[in-house]
Amino acid sequence: MKINHRLGFGLLLSAIVLPLYASAADDLVVADFEGADYVSWKATGEAFGPGPARGTLPGQMQVDGFKGKGLVNSFYKGDNTTGTLTSPEFKIERRYIGFLIGGGKNTEKLALNLLVGGKVVRSATGPNDKPGGSEMLAPESWDVGEFAGQTAVIKIIDNATGGWGHLNVDHIVQTDRQPPGLVTNARRDFKIEKRYLNLPIKNGPTRKVTTLVDGRVEVRNDIGLANGEPDWWAPMDVSAWKGKTVTLQVDRLPEDSTALSAIEQSDEIKGAENLYREPLRGQFHFSPKRGWNNDPNGLVFFNGEYHLFFQHNPYGWGWGNMHWGHAVSRDLIHWEELGDKLAPDNFGPMFSGSAVVDWKNTSGFGKGGKPPLVLIYTAAGNPTVQCIAYSTDGRNFTKYSGNPVVKQITGGNRDPKVLWHEPTKRWVMVLYVEWQKKHTIHFFTSPNLRDWTLASITDGDAVGKPYLFECPDFFELPVDGDASTKKWVLLGANSEYAIGNFDGTKFSAEQSKLPGHRGRGFYAPQTFSDIPKKDGRRIQIGWFQTETKGMPFNQSMTVPLELQLISTADGPRLTFTPVKELAKLRAKTHRIKAGTLTPTSPNPLAKVNAELVELRAEFTPVADSEVTFNVRGCAITYDAKKQELTVNGHRAPAPLRNGKQRLTIYCDRTGLEVFASDGLCYVPMPFQPKATDLMLGAAVKSGAVKFTKLDAYELNSAWLTK
Ligand code: FRU
Repeated sequence: MKINHRLGFGLLLSAIVLPLYASAADDLVVADFEGADYVSWKATGEAFGPGPARGTLPGQMQVDGFKGKGLVNSFYKGDNTTGTLTSPEFKIERRYIGFLIGGGKNTEKLALNLLVGGKVVRSATGPNDKPGGSEMLAPESWDVGEFAGQTAVIKIIDNATGGWGHLNVDHIVQTDRQPPGLVTNARRDFKIEKRYLNLPIKNGPTRKVTTLVDGRVEVRNDIGLANGEPDWWAPMDVSAWKGKTVTLQVDRLPEDSTALSAIEQSDEIKGAENLYREPLRGQFHFSPKRGWNNDPNGLVFFNGEYHLFFQHNPYGWGWGNMHWGHAVSRDLIHWEELGDKLAPDNFGPMFSGSAVVDWKNTSGFGKGGKPPLVLIYTAAGNPTVQCIAYSTDGRNFTKYSGNPVVKQITGGNRDPKVLWHEPTKRWVMVLYVEWQKKHTIHFFTSPNLRDWTLASITDGDAVGKPYLFECPDFFELPVDGDASTKKWVLLGANSEYAIGNFDGTKFSAEQSKLPGHRGRGFYAPQTFSDIPKKDGRRIQIGWFQTETKGMPFNQSMTVPLELQLISTADGPRLTFTPVKELAKLRAKTHRIKAGTLTPTSPNPLAKVNAELVELRAEFTPVADSEVTFNVRGCAITYDAKKQELTVNGHRAPAPLRNGKQRLTIYCDRTGLEVFASDGLCYVPMPFQPKATDLMLGAAVKSGAVKFTKLDAYELNSAWLTK
């Protein structure tokens, strides 16, 4: 029988193991701190607050590893409060006292003490004595056999102020079964012969894992190594260290943990036979093979390939350990994930940024006449700085030895987007900077991508509204395709944008900022750099926040979107349309005959069943009609009177265009993307259709709707077909 060590202190475990340890009596809970107050425990001073904390306190890093909902957390009002918390007297009736402890390390000022006869006979403190660290509680225990039958008290003291001036304690029990101890700096060596170390991962709290190569520290990650049965396996790519010895060192592990012994060296990702066939794998939306993704990064066309880098946590289901993942495609539809290209280093984790092709080799990183591909990224350590890396083959990247190229302005400076400005023949960087308590965009210029000069700062649109927040993008687009009327677009992470002019140093917005997408779960989009002139499109990909519980991966990207500026009665506006390449995915077409739908019409899509769907409709509403498309349980309604679209209950303005509405709907396993009003209305919508519901429908509620087109396509998986 396998027993999760975490149950090790509970009644539950004692119940399970009793038959094996016939002499062991049930555990006695001294305190579990689940109530609203400390009951008969006495607090002095302020540090312990009015009662147990419910997890993390304001201003604290995430507290993990406690049991149930409450714990003792002396971070009440921050690190500078002090005090004590003392238990009522109790009798020592078991061999061991076990507890969970975390927080600051200071044997005198931060202690969990056991007093017998008024004297401290056992003492424990937390693990942290340096900035950084973790708020994780871990199990510890004392052998108290020698005090059997005596009366004792537990006194928790916090006399520490300043950094790590607090202690976390929970679940104090008396037990006859020795709780597993903790091994600090548990290590395992691997002589590297294969591509991966497959790591067992349990979702939840993480541990500090240091990777050493031939004894030298290479990188540190926060990894939820599973002590027993894992939720999934994360491949750590060690191919760069073939023939060398890689050591994984874990800050603290329970002595009965199988976390290190379970690691397997292999050329395959464990579970690869199921890759891209997982029940919640988006079939035409990019997602990483394993782990978490957020922002798309470094979107660039280079040597015939579209490159998609992305914020990646290779070792966790949630955000963390920011690497740049990397995938390539020749058609924007079929992606091949190649592995991580930028890993955390001494400058910090690798946050978002962009990529350019340095055609004129201004940087000097080119080789043998080959222009370099240059990545520009934020290294989010302390300080947080902007750095560059380069490659001539689009596969192997070298971080520039002269990094950083832009020093910290404030801690909140990040997400550089770089472009070539032809009129001034210089590089331009737009950088998000939290500056003087405002969201600003700083513009820099450079002759060579290495040396940057601040050119201007913008912190308000034409009517002085607060500005765009993080992940800026900046590009020029013709209005209505007319090259003589180009405008500059400055866009932020939530896809709000400003339209204006740019002289190579300063951006002036023409009007107040405008809304971008109209849906949910869309963030930090970026457009491709260096798409060939003969194509000329501006193509964007956004982070599609599609949560996939139970999967060994989480989140995804939207389909590639073409961005254009069109003129409207209110001035030029951005449109978002799905790229034409998506038509490649069509497997089967259902063309419904044109005609008028009324409330009594039968469902024209009744015969269509599809899992992966593209639906295209063109219609003219007659009178104030309302038409609802049902796509696998998601309702998409167009209300002609309000000129409004509702997707899964979420409303968005969608004006008729010359009396007509054109709708395009894509449905994948993790979400829908709906396009209306010729792209003026783009509604991304995370949504998980039931696997068994393959139905499509169209129904009119009032009035009538004249359809000039109603096409439904069953789509192929982009992963499983060419
Ligand atoms: C946006 C963001 C960026 C940052 C990155 C970190 O989602 O917060 O500002 O660079 O994610 O992963």
